Amino acid sequence: MTDLVLTEKKNHILIVRINRLDRKNALTHDMYTALGDAIEQARDDSDVRCILYTGSDECFTAGNDLGDFAAGLPGEFEDTPVGRFLLLLASTNKPIIASVNGPAVGIGTTMLLHCDLVFAGNNTRFQMPFANLGLCPEGGSSLLLPSWLGRVRAAELLMLGGAFTAEDALRMGLINRVCEPSQTETTALEACTRLAAQPPAAIRTTRELLNRAGGDELKAAMLAEGKLFAERLKSPENAEAIKAFTEKRKPDFSSFS
Ligand code: COA
Repeated sequence: MTDLVLTEKKNHILIVRINRLDRKNALTHDMYTALGDAIEQARDDSDVRCILYTGSDECFTAGNDLGDFAAGLPGEFEDTPVGRFLLLLASTNKPIIASVNGPAVGIGTTMLLHCDLVFAGNNTRFQMPFANLGLCPEGGSSLLLPSWLGRVRAAELLMLGGAFTAEDALRMGLINRVCEPSQTETTALEACTRLAAQPPAAIRTTRELLNRAGGDELKAAMLAEGKLFAERLKSPENAEAIKAFTEKRKPDFSSFS
């Protein structure tokens, strides 16, 4: 149990709020467990018709807790809290909506690839700085992004790892709408309410069919990424990146071959 992820059921919507603002909502193992538990809770509760992931008006999530990265992944990827969460996210048949503001870094962006509707504030900074951290893509992003955006756009996001805005994300088809940050969650909740009024079995079937588009290939990609990610976490490149973040300086990769 952690109070860093809060859940609340309201009008058939399971609202899951990331709540660790002093650390920019960086996600720890316990928080991933809670995020995954919410999907199972929604799956097992026929009164829940959709899930809303949200943070605050200022911050969605700065991604994985960098301190936890330094400790490595506890076990095989699929058995780790983050692996379980991502695999549940990609396979659940309850619709998932996201309300995003401020930083949406790392998994804060890749988890959105498995959401059905995404609303983002005009203050959102999306980023997948995996390579920048000596790591590699995760969450199925190495498969989904090239097929959705084309190879070169995907490589730009995953290799250069720069931040991009909500307007950029809208242009790329990664989100549905750009909002005023104070209105993002309200807008997402309105969409949840509309979804909850739809015929629930038809919505579940639709999500199952959308999930099938990635299918076995998506799961295989996520597992392959997870294995390589765990290896990269032990790399000197990642050690340098984490040390640099802690020391508030730019990493220096010039001595690596
Ligand atoms: N893990 C652990 N702590 C984190 C964190 C993370 N992913 N992201 C931010 N924090 C901490 C900072 O260390 C800082 O702690 P401090 O107050 O003790 O110094 C606090 O949260 C506030 O972050 P700060 O960097 O001061 O906020 P900012 O508004 O200037 O920048 C970010 C926000 C998200 C751009 C910046 O924090 C960042 O780049 N974080 C790392 C993101 C990342 O690489 N995630 C992993 C992706 S795979």
